[in-house]
Amino acid sequence: MSERQQTSLDLFLSESQRALETVFGDPPAARPNPAADTADVELDAAERRHAAGLMRINHVGEICAQALYSGQAAVARDPSTREHLLEAAQEETDHLAWCAQRLRELDSRPSLLNPLWYAGSYAIGALAGLRGDGWNLGFVVETERQVEAHLDEHLQTLPEADLRSRDILRTMKADEARHADNAEQAGARVLPQPVPTIMAAASKLMKAVAYRL
Ligand SMILES: [Fe+2]
Ligand SMILES: [Fe+2]
Repeated sequence: MSERQQTSLDLFLSESQRALETVFGDPPAARPNPAADTADVELDAAERRHAAGLMRINHVGEICAQALYSGQAAVARDPSTREHLLEAAQEETDHLAWCAQRLRELDSRPSLLNPLWYAGSYAIGALAGLRGDGWNLGFVVETERQVEAHLDEHLQTLPEADLRSRDILRTMKADEARHADNAEQAGARVLPQPVPTIMAAASKLMKAVAYRL
């Protein structure tokens, strides 16, 4: 087997392992849960269902973030861009773990469609990355800004009493804003229309489905 084939095979195997761990494993957070010391106020059944729907959306968002960043990193040209993407992905793993933990506390479960969300996002990330590192980073900025806006929306619509979900989302929001700022400073280009509009439409569809499934 040639060295090039071996490298592609290595990449394929490590990417597959990462995908399986993200979707079916329970990747641990590196930082403490922001809600660790927050009171777990009892919610009524309707509030709990609504909070679980929103936290399932956020969990899917983090599955997509892992997949996007992995896809982008796999094709990034400059090692510093790759480094940047993988570093952000580490913080997304914290978000993923915190959302999974909160879903369990709410007696709920992650989306059944996570393998599909992961595969689709990985493909989108790799396609964006193939257009070059400026696009790659531009894609990070646009994604993070959209996630930041949607976390804001969730902070407004979560049940008032769900203090634990709120603490998690507030920390995530600050992290996402920093991810966008860092990518901007690293040389992101501004994505032309209709790319941001298509991304917003895709995430709207994901949110509608993941709230229930
Ligand atoms: Fe995140
Ligand atoms: Fe992020």
